[in-house]
Parts: sequence; structure tokens; C-alpha cells
Amino acid sequence: MAEKMEFPAGTTPSGVAGRHIVLGLSGGIACYKAAEFCRALIKAGATVQVVMTPSAAEFITPVTMQALSGRAVFISQWDDRTAGGVDNNMAHINLSREADAIVVAPASADFMAKLLHGRADELLSLMCLARPIERVPLILAPAMNREMWTHPATQRNVAQLRADGAHVLGVDAGAQACGEVGDGRMLEPDALLEAVDAFFYDKSLAGRHVLITAGPTVEAIDPVRVLTNRSSGKMGFALASAAARAGARVTLVTGPVALATPSGVQRVDVSSAADMFAAVQADVHDAHVFIACAAVADWTPATPAAQKLKKDGSGEPPALRFVETVDILATVAASARAQSGDLYCVGFAAESHDLERHAQAKRERKNVPLLVGNIGPATFGQDDNALLLVTAQGTEEMPLASKKALAHALIKRIAQAI
Ligand code: CTP
Repeated sequence: MAEKMEFPAGTTPSGVAGRHIVLGLSGGIACYKAAEFCRALIKAGATVQVVMTPSAAEFITPVTMQALSGRAVFISQWDDRTAGGVDNNMAHINLSREADAIVVAPASADFMAKLLHGRADELLSLMCLARPIERVPLILAPAMNREMWTHPATQRNVAQLRADGAHVLGVDAGAQACGEVGDGRMLEPDALLEAVDAFFYDKSLAGRHVLITAGPTVEAIDPVRVLTNRSSGKMGFALASAAARAGARVTLVTGPVALATPSGVQRVDVSSAADMFAAVQADVHDAHVFIACAAVADWTPATPAAQKLKKDGSGEPPALRFVETVDILATVAASARAQSGDLYCVGFAAESHDLERHAQAKRERKNVPLLVGNIGPATFGQDDNALLLVTAQGTEEMPLASKKALAHALIKRIAQAI
């Protein structure tokens, strides 16, 4: 009987959920993206206090930002409204003390130049200067014309701001509002959310390379027919995202799935079990962790027909002959690096019944330190899952939770194990 354990404390996803973000807008056309970003933060579970420079208010109205954030917007240091529940007319102190981070998006060239010098002539820069530097991180999302971005003054300012402890995000390339094309566009709202969310995770896998397989494989019968399975890839993608947030370099080898690549993850698309094995072999040499989350076909047609198989009128279906595919996990787990402990291998087991018994047997058969069992039909395509972790020491349940939450818990476990 499995020893039942509660979902371990501190292993639910951190990220922006439950955080209080001061979203600062300085003047730039990218202010229109800040509206969407504000919504995205709130949807992800953050509370948002918007502070705008007077220039930003030329580009987008405080009314819009108030409606989206659900809070009155602050623009002036002379604003005598209650700020942060305190009536002392010191919004720059009160609003910055309650923040988990100040995110300035867009951060204009002028605003960054101002921060660099510690100038504080309007509320937002005043607040950045007055924030408790060791407790309230400052994240800047630059936005400007390409010439302004590449100008030595701006690049010098970015380097100095980083040296002063600010986290300056990158910029996008492409068409700019001014009609020119190049680097300097502010990151899109989704990418901004990813970057800010990632900021709040422990970097427990920094310097590590994590290789993950995900999704189904597709085995050709003939040029138009295939054998595949119902794996959606969601768990593998959630693991890739969690590993990247934990600071790892992540390679995700995936069968065909309709999922976006998590940011910071290198994706390798494959089709058949043989393709997946080749892609894993190409990347496993310097991996520290290998997670086999893919639902790999166990058998593949021995000789896929070169032309479409036609009905011959006899009523007899074609006789298909199968051969076993390479067991990718077992092969990797048997390698010298895995055996010496340089490569930590994690397997998954999608079972339909007797989960604990099958998962234990599978862990021993595949010779991996950790095997994660789940009930296949209950999880394929779903956003939630329940896991049974099987190690040589015993078993542990991770009760029903989102795949995202489970992925973060699992990545934390793996980081502890290595
Ligand atoms: N696996 C693999 N290569 C294969 C088959 C499976 O890497 N050719 C991996 C899966 O990614 C998973 C684990 O092995 O991590 C278990 O997969 P599963 O299909 O549950 O196990 P099988 O070995 O195929 O056993 P069975 O189908 O008999 O339950």
C-alpha cells in the first residue's frame, strides 16, 4: 500500500500568482502593449498597481489602465490620495514598499537614462529610486526606435543599470511604429508575462541541461495512414516550461502536438519512435537529466508500404507485420553516464490499472531512479493529473492538480535528487 503524503509544502508554482506588481509605464507607443500585459498579469493571479509617467499618459489614458487593473492609477508625486493604505502623501514610499516587484514596461530610452543617474523628478522614477533595493526587484522592458536602442549611450545605460541590480529584459526585432525595421520593439505581452513569471522561481537547475521527450509518436503504415496514440504532450511541455523556469537549458524532443513551445526551450520536432530516438541520441551526451515523458509506440510496421494500401475486393484486411521499437528510456538509462550517476533518468508509466504494481515493476525493468506513474486514460488530453512517484525507497502520491503545478513539484524533486 502506498504511503500517502500531502502535496509537499512550497512545491506549488510560485511565479506571479499571488504577487503584487507595480506596473510602471514610461512614455512610448508600446504603452498600448502594457494594457494587454496588465490584463495578462491579473489573469495569471497577480494584483497590479499601475504608475504612469506624465509622458506615458500622453500615449494611453490612466482610465484604461485603471479599468484593467481595478485600481486607481498614480501619476504624480503630489497626488494626495491614500496610497498603499497610508495617508501621508508619500505614494513613492507606500506603493514601493508593498510591491513584490516593479516592472517598467515600456521603459523608454529617456526613462532608463534617468534611472541610471538616480534622478527622481516624477513619481515612477522616484519610486524606483526609493524602493528597498534588496527586497523589491526592478524589471525593465525597453522599448524604442532601433537607432536609439543601438546607440552607445543606451547600451552603456543598459549595462550600468544591470550592474546596479536592475533586470533589463531583451527587445524584439521587427517593424517599428516609426516605419523602420530593427531591434528595439518591446516584448509582446505574452513574452513579458513569461519573463516576469520566470523571475519568481528558484533557479534550482541553473547550469544544468534537461532533455525531455513529449507527446505521441506517429508510425507510418503507408504514405497516408499512421498509428499513433492519444498523448497530448501537455505534461512534457509543462515539465519543459518548469525546468526552464528553474534555470535549466532545456531540449524538448516532441512528437506532433498542437502546443506552443515554452519560452526558453529548444524544441526538436520528430514523428516516429526511431526519429525520437535519433534526436535523443544527438542531445543526451551533455544532459544532466533525461525525462522520458513521451508516449512512444512500442511497435512499428516492419515495412511501411511505399504506396497506399488499396482494398483488393476480397474483403480481407492487409496483414500488417510489426517490429518492436527501441526502448529509448531503457537504452539511455543503461548508458555509462546514467550508470555513473552523471545523468539522472526519469520515466513515466501510463497504465490503465494496478498503477503501483506496474510502475514499480517498470522502474526496475527500465533501471531508473524515479518513475512517475499515472492512469493514462484519465490524463491524456486533460489539464489536470494525479501522479504516483516510485523510487527504490518507496512510493509517494501527488494528488490531483494542474499539470503545471505537478510539473513544478516534480522539477523541484528532481533538482533535489541531483
Ligand atoms: N519509453 C521509451 N521508448 C519506448 C517505449 C517507452 O522511451 N520505445 C518510455 C516512455 O517514454 C516512458 C516509459 O518508457 O517513460 C514507459 O512507457 P510505457 O509505454 O508506459 O511502457 P512500456 O515499456 O511500453 O511498457 P508497457 O507498454 O508494456 O506498459
